Amino acid sequence: MSAAREPIAVIGTGYVGLVTAAGFAELGSEVWCVDIDAEKIERLERGEVPIYEPGLEELLERNRERLHFSTGLADALDHARLLFVAVGTPPTYSGDADLSAVHAVVDAIPASDRHALVMKSTVPCGTGASLQRVLRERGREGLQYVSCPEFLKEGSAVKDFLHPDRVVVGDDGGWAGDAVVELYAPLQAPLVRTDVASAEMVKLASNAFLATKISFINEIANVCEETGADVVEVARGMGLDDRIGSKFLQAGIGFGGSCFPKDVDALKQLAGNSGYHFQLLNSVIQVNDLQKRRVIGKLQRHLGPLAGRRVALLGLAFKPNTDDMREASSLVLAARLQADGAQISAYDPVAEEQARTLMGGIEFAEEPLAALRDADAAVLVTEWQQFLELDWDEVAKTMRGTLIVDGRNALDADAVRAAGLAYEGIGRR
Ligand code: UDX
Repeated sequence: MSAAREPIAVIGTGYVGLVTAAGFAELGSEVWCVDIDAEKIERLERGEVPIYEPGLEELLERNRERLHFSTGLADALDHARLLFVAVGTPPTYSGDADLSAVHAVVDAIPASDRHALVMKSTVPCGTGASLQRVLRERGREGLQYVSCPEFLKEGSAVKDFLHPDRVVVGDDGGWAGDAVVELYAPLQAPLVRTDVASAEMVKLASNAFLATKISFINEIANVCEETGADVVEVARGMGLDDRIGSKFLQAGIGFGGSCFPKDVDALKQLAGNSGYHFQLLNSVIQVNDLQKRRVIGKLQRHLGPLAGRRVALLGLAFKPNTDDMREASSLVLAARLQADGAQISAYDPVAEEQARTLMGGIEFAEEPLAALRDADAAVLVTEWQQFLELDWDEVAKTMRGTLIVDGRNALDADAVRAAGLAYEGIGRR
């Protein structure tokens, strides 16, 4: 890599910030990482990675000499022109995105003709325009603004950074947009160069579309259960039409995570605030809420009332290869089971620590079979690879009952049944 690559600053060292920092360091940039969380910065300086993300630790380690960590902005402002903003924008009670962390960053940056804010955080369409207005009002219009949304998926974030489907850069002209395009050039990804508002909308619309695809296939699964069709076969048949595509057609117990629920809500809210009622997204959200509870009906059908029954949850994270518990289906499921008086045991290979802070009254097991011991039923909540490789004869011996609910349609139904267990998927024959 050329030593002349543009140095950058990354403000916020969460999933997006750390992956962006490590990725650009890998491409040859010096990167100044800033976070207000002093403990996190200390850990990063010691070489510890505060989140579980495959490949990230190695990438940070390999580029250690190019990565600088600090709780203050001064060094970052000295060394870098491009200030990537990757702070959290969590949902508020009203469903709008909470932009207070973004505003705090903007407030902290002094007047400058040399710097540009590059927005990586997911923000509602119109945020760039309103921030630019604020900057103008405060006589800081010299600070340029670029929207550069991030599309990485947790669990494959490093790969997604290095091999993006597209890079989207939205700006109003000026040096900063070109500089961002230049930074991404080695990745040779298709580039969408557009205005700020359109770049912001690409991000929200992409997530809302993918969430719609999931809610759609989940409803097809529910209809399959009524009509005797098998949603896995149906999705395969649909997915081969390249106008539809095979991805994100996996029916299950609903989508979770830090992005889909929040971004679908934010887009619905944004539309509503501007006077447009986004009917389709209301349904996407409702279907997902109901889908997280459907397992309860299946358990009741097999076991009768759930009071006193023992249910093992296999997996807790919102999807495999992450320790992220945000909006995880396991949270809704566990709370419903507890409300019905069921006892819950659970195992997750990496999310237990996060889960302990969010879920009370649950027995956390050290390995899958320990969670399954004497269970009346087991529910596959997160399709970690190790659950797909379980020895089902061993499972049958360990459990008290026989019911396996495959909440992700990820298990080999024949292998489960061959061990004398009862298999129930979502929308499967
Ligand atoms: C998502 C987007 O994919 C990414 O582009 C964006 O930047 C952030 O939000 P992420 O939240 O990491 O990424 O997870 P993703 O792999 O998209 O899965 C989201 C949820 O949908 C998970 O709960 C997953 O289990 C569920 N899902 C996904 C399904 O239920 N069915 C599918 O077919 C695909």
